[in-house]
Amino acid sequence: MPLSSRWKADLFSFLLAGFALLTTSIAPTAAHAADATVHTLIIDTDPGADDVIALLFAMAAPERLKIQALTTVAGNVPLAKTSRNARLAREWAKRPDIPVYAGAPRPLLRTPIYAADVHGSEGITGVKVFEPKQPLAEGNAVDYLIRTLRAAPEKSVTLAMLGPETNLALALTQAPDITRGLRELVLMGGAHFNGGNITPTAEFNVFADPHAAEIVLKSGVPITMLPLDVTHKILTSPDRIAKLRGIGNQAGKTVADILDAYVQHDMQYYGLPGGPVHDATVIAYLLQPSLFKGKQVNVEVDSREGLGFGQTVMDWYGGLKRPANVNWIAEGDAPGFFDLLTQRISRLP
Ligand code: BDR
Ligand code: CA
Repeated sequence: MPLSSRWKADLFSFLLAGFALLTTSIAPTAAHAADATVHTLIIDTDPGADDVIALLFAMAAPERLKIQALTTVAGNVPLAKTSRNARLAREWAKRPDIPVYAGAPRPLLRTPIYAADVHGSEGITGVKVFEPKQPLAEGNAVDYLIRTLRAAPEKSVTLAMLGPETNLALALTQAPDITRGLRELVLMGGAHFNGGNITPTAEFNVFADPHAAEIVLKSGVPITMLPLDVTHKILTSPDRIAKLRGIGNQAGKTVADILDAYVQHDMQYYGLPGGPVHDATVIAYLLQPSLFKGKQVNVEVDSREGLGFGQTVMDWYGGLKRPANVNWIAEGDAPGFFDLLTQRISRLP
């Protein structure tokens, strides 16, 4: 006997509901799927105390972050010291497989500035620095970026940027075709709701080379920015640092010693209860993007002389009607960040 059309409709809805239940309970949500992404990664960096923590964090996640190289740039301290500090982080993480290439010794146009008042004259606070055993890789970071991105499959390489963006700006200027190999740029830089940290309007990485940031922001590559708006919401506490120290390995002690000294400046300057670990949020974003919330917006850089020099002009409400070029991260889960950092650092020696 043929089924009545009402009966058929009911059966169809029942099967559909069952299928939906099945798929929602077993299929990952979009956020969970992104949390499992494996990145072919290059890290451009100016260590810097928080850069060193970010590097240790990243090198502790080899199954998710396939680090091809660290490229260094002048920033928090001059290039010789940022390059030495990147090599130190590599030695502490026991990752001799990762080459370190030194890049730009100064910004594109502006007078160089450093941040020794925050990071100490050696660029790392709270621990003894020394000359690492393994040398720099032969060749320049800018040439390395051009060569590697040209040879890479389309949209395959993620570039994490933890300092002034001089190296990528130079590479893009010499070889604009390298955008083809890039999947995404994830960078620490900029400020809007929070205000700046080097001037009332500007954040250090953008202020240190605003002309480079302009080139990068106009590159057309998908960009996620972690500005002070989010990093100043993810603060250390004595308990969070104690958990890192309590892991009991050398890396946990190193991270805790660096943080104990590094957070002092910002806690005093801003009257905060703890300090931000800016660059490490980039690595947390790569490993667990569901910890963060952002919005696609237009961001441009003010590179004119004056009080706005180095400011990221971020159009949160879309008033300018210019095309969105950045996923601007404004919120982050602070306990989730420190749990992830502690879990990962516990995997290091
Ligand atoms: C950024 O500036 C540097 O001092 C830190 O390493 C971080 O990359 C924060 O504004
Ligand atoms: Ca940095």
